[in-house]
Amino acid sequence: MAGIPGSTDAPVEPDRQLSVARHPVRPELVAHSPVPAGIPKFARTNPASVPASYRSLDPADLAVKDLHQFILGIVSPRPIAFASTLDAESRPNLAPYSFFNAFSSNPPIVVFSSNRKVKDNTTKDTLHNIRQTGEVVINAVSYSMMRQMALASIEYPPDVDEFAKAGLTPIPSELVKPFRVAESPAHLECRVKDIITLGDQGGAGHMIICDVLRIHVRESVLDEQDRIDPHRIDLVGRMGRAFYVRASGAAIHTLYQPMDAIGMGFDQVPPSIRHSPILTGSELAEIAALTRWPSEEEISVFADMPEIREITESEEEVLERLHERARVYIGTGQVRMAAETLFLADRIVGHQD
Ligand SMILES: Cc1cc2nc3c(=O)[nH]c(=O)nc-3n(C[C@H](O)[C@H](O)[C@H](O)COP(=O)(O)O)c2cc1C
Repeated sequence: MAGIPGSTDAPVEPDRQLSVARHPVRPELVAHSPVPAGIPKFARTNPASVPASYRSLDPADLAVKDLHQFILGIVSPRPIAFASTLDAESRPNLAPYSFFNAFSSNPPIVVFSSNRKVKDNTTKDTLHNIRQTGEVVINAVSYSMMRQMALASIEYPPDVDEFAKAGLTPIPSELVKPFRVAESPAHLECRVKDIITLGDQGGAGHMIICDVLRIHVRESVLDEQDRIDPHRIDLVGRMGRAFYVRASGAAIHTLYQPMDAIGMGFDQVPPSIRHSPILTGSELAEIAALTRWPSEEEISVFADMPEIREITESEEEVLERLHERARVYIGTGQVRMAAETLFLADRIVGHQD
């Protein structure tokens, strides 16, 4: 029996290996995992995972509106900063900005960008106000207020209060003068640290770099351990064109990747598994993330399970059926069982690369 690559497990008692040895390598199964020519040695080889073609674009050749949409569609989904400012006469202004992200936790710094309008190359009220006052409150946007946020993006004249237009409720901040949005589940009171001008043509951004002075989070979005629950905060993100994403419910995927657990890596995954005709790269990554491979003993014990024997003793599509079974295990979070299934299949189809 072939050794297990990367395994540090102790040798297995001979009689425990019997059930695997009962299934000899069958050439017709080995043929199921071809490695297409031209694929790098450790890459995934499922042809379905190899894109057919790309459209390659030079930004200089695109109209600004098309360039804008390609960038928005690719850098997506983006969080939305619902920026509340005051002008020099303390009149409120509220507008959404999705060129927005967090860039530092210590010190806490968030950045958003106010762009020159493509149609007339003018700049926006939020930028004017920040230049005058140096303060902004960034309000998170939850699904329940999404439509109101969009209403506030309309280009009202500078003296029009978007709180009133969008039917949103201003509440006082603690450390800065602009109002917070009561309907928003979280607010960041910010002092502007710097503004970086990125160009002077329509579409050019101004990066507004903000020091976060105070954080407010609605109690009801916190879990029992005082952490933000994504389902409760129910944020929306901006995508390209008119598309938004609601980041809760089925859209949330949990993926644990402990930084101190050194995963085995794709390059250590036996070729017959790595080139699976069934599993996606992402599913295989669950296996590659394991810190050790199943021992021969674990594989033998697993091979003796009646439902597994039913597959391995059948005449047809043994590899596919075992890989399908592994997919079910991965889908239900039973990654070690999936690994045992795949390594058993590997023992049956033998090694190749
Ligand atoms: C969801 C959403 C995200 C937006 N993101 C940006 C952005 O990142 N940068 C920008 O310049 N305009 C962005 N806009 C457009 C501005 O909100 C819009 O121009 C608004 O009228 C600006 O208001 P102001 O002049 O009061 O600052 C966005 C609009 C929406 C609806």
